[in-house]
Amino acid sequence: MKVAVFSTKPYDSRYLREANGNAHELAFFEPRLSLETATLAQGFEVVCAFVNDQLGPDVIAALSDAGVRLIALRSAGFNHVDLAAAAEAEIAVARVPAYSPHAVAEHSVALMLTLNRKMHRAYNRVREGNFALDGLLGFDLHGKTVGIVGTGQIGAIVARILHGFGCDLLAHDPNENADCLALGVRYVALDDLFERSDVITLQCPLTPQTHHLIDAGAIATMKRGVMLINTSRGAVVDSTALIRGLKSGVIGSVGLDVYEEEGDLFFQDLSQTFIEDDVFARLLTFPNVVITGHQAFFTHEAMTAIAETTIANITAFARDGAPVHPVARPAGD
Ligand code: NAI
Repeated sequence: MKVAVFSTKPYDSRYLREANGNAHELAFFEPRLSLETATLAQGFEVVCAFVNDQLGPDVIAALSDAGVRLIALRSAGFNHVDLAAAAEAEIAVARVPAYSPHAVAEHSVALMLTLNRKMHRAYNRVREGNFALDGLLGFDLHGKTVGIVGTGQIGAIVARILHGFGCDLLAHDPNENADCLALGVRYVALDDLFERSDVITLQCPLTPQTHHLIDAGAIATMKRGVMLINTSRGAVVDSTALIRGLKSGVIGSVGLDVYEEEGDLFFQDLSQTFIEDDVFARLLTFPNVVITGHQAFFTHEAMTAIAETTIANITAFARDGAPVHPVARPAGD
């Protein structure tokens, strides 16, 4: 099939080419998919998209006019796709439901340890010949209460890792995970998790229910000095409320791999210009905030799996008219 790959970085083309062999005709486009760039998909049956590509109703209508029949997402999350519009246009949507939950879970824990042991500050100090320890005081994770919001594939691995650290684990998820229960994870109401946790880590998808799950009201109920980790989706956290929480001291530290308005920032080199987003720029000024640019998924194992599953989705669609991992339109939508 003819496949238009959007938001292509050199590593995307490398892994996709390897997984594809000669199976499909891949064309790589650097721009993000948007209404302006959708014309690039003219004559392609498949569009291959990533997390910050725009797949709202207008773009889907344009893709339909261009002859697209399949949107093959290189991500697990599909919150950026208007599934109802895709169904109306008879465009199938496929995703990569699991590539390496270990990659994301390990990144969540990396952010916890970086913040707690102040690795980001220690690294710079030692390079400048400053071996003073003032300001680097951390705490033992052992014995601390960690609240995990969402115990699917990723959250369950976070639980397993932190169990090894000797943490007391709370979780909130409408679906209890048997592996987590076996580890001794206690499922509690969200309010309870907010009130009791020393560390809160967000591992849930972005849905209407989780949009701004962490807002001013939620922050007001948290333990003073709580550490917040978000490797899920930016819009699960209200960034303005987060800044207020940091300024008041209720939030003790923050590790983010995702940001609500990351579409205009992440995956690009903006080092020769300035950051226009004042909320993001303010977040960067806190010494107790560590931000990575949506890199939690970015391991060799995950990139290999993403490319292989994406090609398998396209091959199955070409052969059977349905991808291996379709994203269904939600009931009643
Ligand atoms: P999953 O579908 O296996 O697990 C998600 C869990 O969240 C499920 O158990 C579900 O019941 C739960 N959940 C749904 N609504 C909830 C709510 N309101 N409160 C609490 N829990 C809720 O998904 P997986 O693979 O664990 O991924 C989770 C999310 O992580 C993805 O949806 C995606 O947004 C994000 N992600 C981020 C990456 C990154 O590079 N930063 C890479 C991959 C995923």
